Amino acid sequence: MTTTGAPYAPFMDPRTAHPPGVSPLDPAAWLVVDPDYAPQMAQRDRLIADAAEIVTSATEDAGPALAEFRAVLLDHLARDGRWRVGRAAVLRPDDAETPLSLDALRLAGRLCQEDFCLLAPGADPADEHRLIAGVLCFPSRWMLSEKLGRPLTPIHRPVPGYAENLSARVNRLFAALRPDRPLMRVNWLVWPTDMLHMPQSETAKTPVPAVPGRFWLRTERQTLRRLPETGVVVFGIKTTVTPIEDLTPAQRAGLRAALAEKAEAEVGYSSGRDVHEAILAALA
Ligand code: HEM
Repeated sequence: MTTTGAPYAPFMDPRTAHPPGVSPLDPAAWLVVDPDYAPQMAQRDRLIADAAEIVTSATEDAGPALAEFRAVLLDHLARDGRWRVGRAAVLRPDDAETPLSLDALRLAGRLCQEDFCLLAPGADPADEHRLIAGVLCFPSRWMLSEKLGRPLTPIHRPVPGYAENLSARVNRLFAALRPDRPLMRVNWLVWPTDMLHMPQSETAKTPVPAVPGRFWLRTERQTLRRLPETGVVVFGIKTTVTPIEDLTPAQRAGLRAALAEKAEAEVGYSSGRDVHEAILAALA
């Protein structure tokens, strides 16, 4: 039996295995339509209909950025070819119609597999970018409402080593981001669940509900592009879950080696020592 492997495997290359691990992104490849498009979109439609107050959020000053985001997104979709932008609705790649009467966040969330977070630069160039709006259907144990309004370093407060090792580099990367030169990176971890929608408060983090004996690689293809008018950065997050049985033998070995290198604090932040050992054993 041949396996096709995981579509995203950043742990296979030392340049992308560790954060920040960013590379240039072809602007035409901003948005993906992966093989999991239809089932993910069905779940996004439901979440946006039933739980909009959890999956969308914006500060009062986000209006101009949201208007620009909506225009840039629709322009991109119209050129892309996989979506059909009409006068009253957009026909999606899975042949569902999404009405253009929706607000920018609901519209983006129901047209794209990506979750989107909008981050505004501060008045002073030395200020960190701050989260002003988002549509977040597939959070990996965080909550939009809790992070809204915060700058990048306080957003990452629970992440071990972020303030010491990453924040200065991420801030430089944000400051230098040009509208015509978007960037991407892929975050990865292994979890005992394939659940996509996992909102959790940082003050009440619990282990993810585990499916006994099973593990999934969870990757987030993250894109960064600056809107030319407002200067706001659009951070896109496409989540993919792949059962570890579907990895190629080389990916399994690469994933195991990369996991085995994780520092104790990172293990504690993600799965905890016991689950981590079980994942290593399952990948052996
Ligand atoms: C180059 C840019 C960025 C880098 C290198 C980065 C890095 C990281 C890392 C290493 C983690 C821990 C992930 C894990 O082990 O699974 C993390 C978590 C997180 N990141 Fe980022 N990040 C970046 C941009 C952003 C942006 C723009 C946002 C805006 C919303 C964001 C929001 C978060 C959140 C909410 C978490 C979870 C924090 C928690 O546990 O409460 N990140 N990030």
